[in-house]
Order: sequence, then C-alpha cells, then structure tokens
Amino acid sequence: MSKKIVIGITGSIAAFKAVQLISDLIKKDFHVEVMMSESATKFINPICIQSLTKRKVYVDTFDDENPAIITHIDIVKDADLFAVIPASAHTIAKLANGFADNMLTSAFLAATCTKLIAPAMNVHMYKNSLTQRNIQLLKEHHVLFVEPISGLLACGDIGKGKLADEEDLLEMIQYALTPKILKNKNILISAGPTQESIDPVRYITNHSSGKMGYALAKAAFCLGANVTLVSGPTHLKVPYSVHFHPITTASQMYHTIMPLAPTQDIIIMSAAVADYSCEEIADEKIKKSENYIHLQLNKNKDILFELGKIKKENQILCGFAMETNNLIQNAFEKLKKKNCDMIVANHLKTQGAGFQGDTNIVSIITHKDIKEYGLQSKESLAYEILNLLINMEE
Ligand code: CTP
Repeated sequence: MSKKIVIGITGSIAAFKAVQLISDLIKKDFHVEVMMSESATKFINPICIQSLTKRKVYVDTFDDENPAIITHIDIVKDADLFAVIPASAHTIAKLANGFADNMLTSAFLAATCTKLIAPAMNVHMYKNSLTQRNIQLLKEHHVLFVEPISGLLACGDIGKGKLADEEDLLEMIQYALTPKILKNKNILISAGPTQESIDPVRYITNHSSGKMGYALAKAAFCLGANVTLVSGPTHLKVPYSVHFHPITTASQMYHTIMPLAPTQDIIIMSAAVADYSCEEIADEKIKKSENYIHLQLNKNKDILFELGKIKKENQILCGFAMETNNLIQNAFEKLKKKNCDMIVANHLKTQGAGFQGDTNIVSIITHKDIKEYGLQSKESLAYEILNLLINMEE
C-alpha cells in the first residue's frame, strides 16, 4: 500500500515550488492529501493542486462535505507523514504554540504521525530569535526540519530563507518515512571516479558517474546512519545530510579515508579508483611534437586492500568489482585478497548495468553465498545492499 503524506502549504512565494514537489510525489506513487492556509491560496490556486492529486484541497476547517466526518481529525489518522512545505514564519509560530485556528494548524495538532517542516521566508524573519525559538521548540517536540538555503530572496535581500531544493525535500521526506535500522552506525562510502593529472589541462579518469555511491549514501542516511561520503568529481548534488569530503586523486582519497576508517562500522568502496597515476605531472601543457609520447604511470595504493589489512573485528568491508569477463571468479578472488565481507559485482557488459545509468544488475558475493539481483534502480539496489550488510552484523 502506498504511504500517505499530508502536505500543508502556507503563504510564501515558495508555494509554487510545492506544486512540482506534489506532482513528483504522486509520480513516486505516494497518496498525497493537501491542505492550504488562506494566505497560500493568494499565491497558488487550490484547483492547480487538485488537478494533480485528484482530491479535494482543504482550506476552511468548517468546509466538511460529510457531517459524519471531521476532516481535520480524520485525514491525519492514517497519515504516515505531515509535511508543511513551505512553512511561513507565522505558521511556524502558530504550530510551535499549539494554535489550531485553520484546517492546516488544526490537522497538524491532531496528527500523531512523523512531522516535517520546510521553512521559507525573508532572511531577517528567519534569523529572528523568535522564529529560531519557535523552530527549536518544534524540534524538541520531534518535528523534523529541512533547513532553508541561502540566495537571492523574493524581497531582494540576500541570505538564508529560500525553500530547500526539491532533491533535499524528497530526501528528507524519504528519511521521515524510513525505519532507522542503521541508527548509531557510522558508515563510510566512497563514490565516483578519481582524476590523475597529466599536465595542467589533461587527466586520466574513468566513466564512473558516482550514482551508485550517492544512492548508497542517501539510503544509509534515510536508514538512520551517520554517513561520511568521500567522493571524486561528479555532476551529482551532494546529499542533504552527509559528512562530505570531495577529493580529486586516488592518493587524496586514500589519505582522506584511512584516518576515518577505524571509527566506521561499515565501509563501502564503490568508487572507481584509478589504479595508476603519472610519475610526474608536467607544469606546463604538453605540446604535441612527436607521433607518440611516453607517460610513466605508477601504481596507486589499493585503498580497499589497505582497509582490509587494518579491518577491526565487527567492522564490515564491502567492495565493488567492475568486470568485463569472469565476473564471479574475479569478484570472489577480490573478496579473499582484499579481506572483504562482501563484493558487489557489476555486470558491465549487460544493458542496464554499470557506470552512467540509473539502473544496475549485480551479483553480490559473500564468503557464504552468491545472490543475483536483476535490473533495478540504483536507489532500490542501495537498500538491498545495506539490508544485506546490516544482517551480516547481527
Ligand atoms: N579499489 C581501491 N583502490 C584502488 C583500486 C580499486 O580501493 N586503487 C577498490 C574499488 O573501490 C572497488 C574494488 O577495489 O571496491 C575493486 O576495484 P576494481 O577496479 O574492480 O579492481 P582492482 O582491484 O583494481 O583489480 P583489476 O583492476 O585488476 O580488476
């Protein structure tokens, strides 16, 4: 059964962004109910939302169609999440003080499900100690927040107050809905390619997009882990709530990961680390003169192998393997050689698997068995991998 999310929209110029979010939640198969404050209807027409949800949008508390049903109580009874997006300073103040003077605030007070608030307002209204006190009060009452971002605000001021990006909102909605099976666990994930410079304009790299590693980082966060993401250069947005360490070279990745390793419960090396780097990086651009040039390449440290050497008892180490032939045999050898607990082996030559796409096909190899995972999104595969890893711990 699809999860039910009640979205409350309040009077903010960012109300229009809720329209896209609602449309995307519906595409993701959520059951979405919407309530709007009177001021929100000045920014967007409820009909616009109604056309997306195919359900009545509630504004007036006393506009109950069926006298037998008290809507503001009934609608939240079986809700999985109540999210106020965007939340104005005024509504936040009302919610923090238990006001129930319209459909949205009454339903919020009546709701016993997880609650989430994404503020959007002028920077000075946001920074005002009264607003901050109200936010703090709601946090103390277990309400989750998605922080606004800095930028040019509708009023012309520059500062923190813009509604969070949709990707961050979706991530926090997912977080709010996911059971916390990785609570108190430290997980380090490496992702993306590395780049090894040849001269100031050229470098050696590979086709890794980082999508699998970023999907793992997001899923681990949603499952409640304390996530550290060490990433080579990618075009992806940094997930909302991870400790992010951007690196460029394999050597930087090694020097970033090794000191962090001892405090991790689980380490997943999904990065496509370059095996070699240039002996010398030219200071000036190399001009073409001869028909060929020689590059002296030296072997980089194998980070996974080094992690395997210092692996603590109870620590779980997971590697990835990209192969074009003898997938299972090569992956099994990597499992043993690098002292890993699990290898996720990519079927690189199969359509729908591998580097750039949003899907993957893998075999997951442990010392006990091999499990096959057919075509699925990297997002759902991330949850499968994390579930297997947590089960290994028990
Ligand atoms: N890896 C690593 N450090 C490297 C190279 C690879 O930590 N210098 C890790 C990758 O993150 C991955 C695993 O090792 O988890 C397997 O990487 P892969 O490139 O498939 O294998 P290699 O060990 O490099 O062996 P080969 O290239 O010979 O297949």
